Amino acid sequence: MNILLLGSGGREHALAWKIAQSTRVERLFVAPGNAGTEGIALATGGTSVNVPIKADAFADIRRFVIDEAVDMVVVGPEDPLVKGIRDFFVADEQLRSVAVIGPSAAGAQLEGSKDFAKGFMQRHAIPTAAYRTFDGNSIDEGLAFLETLQPPYVLKADGLCAGKGVLILPTLDEARRELREMLGGMFGQASARVVIEEFLSGIECSVFVLTDGHDYKILPEAKDYKRIGEGDTGLNTGGMGSVSPVPFADASWMQKVEERIIRPTVEGLAEEGLDYKGFIFFGLINVDGDPKVIEYNCRMGDPETETVMLRLKSDLVDLLEGVAEGNLGQRQVETDPRAAVCVMLVSGGYPGHYEKGKTITGIDDVSGSVVFHAGTARAADGRIVTAGGRVIAVSSYGADKAEALAKSFAEAQKIQFDGRYFRRDIGQDL
Ligand code: AMP
Ligand code: GLY
Repeated sequence: MNILLLGSGGREHALAWKIAQSTRVERLFVAPGNAGTEGIALATGGTSVNVPIKADAFADIRRFVIDEAVDMVVVGPEDPLVKGIRDFFVADEQLRSVAVIGPSAAGAQLEGSKDFAKGFMQRHAIPTAAYRTFDGNSIDEGLAFLETLQPPYVLKADGLCAGKGVLILPTLDEARRELREMLGGMFGQASARVVIEEFLSGIECSVFVLTDGHDYKILPEAKDYKRIGEGDTGLNTGGMGSVSPVPFADASWMQKVEERIIRPTVEGLAEEGLDYKGFIFFGLINVDGDPKVIEYNCRMGDPETETVMLRLKSDLVDLLEGVAEGNLGQRQVETDPRAAVCVMLVSGGYPGHYEKGKTITGIDDVSGSVVFHAGTARAADGRIVTAGGRVIAVSSYGADKAEALAKSFAEAQKIQFDGRYFRRDIGQDL
């Protein structure tokens, strides 16, 4: 079959790497992709091809899918899903038979609206932090609600904010000020409503599920590292590394996750008539042995995908076919027993201001790790250059986490670009 993968980050390179291993794939296109997603050898011969179309340019995607006889569209990032790419395909006579891996806009609200997600969890008794939602007409109630909580205070813009919409504030004064600013338009329409919720203390873990709307399959879990600085300090980033497996996510903890969170979520989506065929990302926190939901995402995580794909032994395309055909229950998920880790090389200055266009060298010298490109591009003269804050995910297997980390750190040293930075403490807290 012919597959079009939408997106351009490390997640998409990892998905493309895994899809390319399937014996069912004749052609693989990545739109827009990065320097790593072009030219991946396919198991059936041929190589992957980048297509200069943005992941949310629906009309261009439509034309390409028809012209190239694409059978399946795999949606990497949340944006096209929240904007309704699935609905766009379903509504179009010529696209209706094309499989889209990703939920409808209504289902994608699990990520697109924090208020919707909290309400959904409440309706289905799914464990999460206590909360209330406020808007421009209820600022005073919001300020009063803050006074009933203990610090730190958690404020979340309702809509998508490219990962910047959650504020955790140590004092009541700051929380009051930020609440006014958010409701006053700090994130535009995305913060017209703000969720204020109880702060939960514990270690986080990302759990991933594929669902066809009835059945689900649990993929390997992972932990990501969000802060720029070692020891989890400094600003939030898109993710500085990840590890899988996560030691506390053992069989008994995962059983709680499945019974209390995954099953009620999948059943809740069906009960509410939400068309959901794709990935569900459960951002969980372990509170004294009990899992609670911090957030849902309607797609895979980045940089978790870079380790989850290493640990998924089964043919991903077989699972995606199960999602599309509604017979996921008949497919198998087999997991690699080895540990996998990923260390993200980022541009100097990230997540603040950073420069692009720096020449990257040494990628071909890496032998013991899998190099997933994130923010890279190929210059006209053939050089690979930086094109984003997160540049390259150096991903490795090991008999255990320590062995995998040692490999990633050693191989990371071979890749050079001006301003390169990475955290040397990934996985150390587990
Ligand atoms: P989110 O975008 O909802 O994932 O939030 C970003 C990050 O903020 C999460 O990964 C957590 O580290 C943190 N966070 C969000 N909500 C809470 C909460 N209720 N208690 C503690 N930390 C939280
Ligand atoms: N790693 C967190 C995310 O993808 O949102």
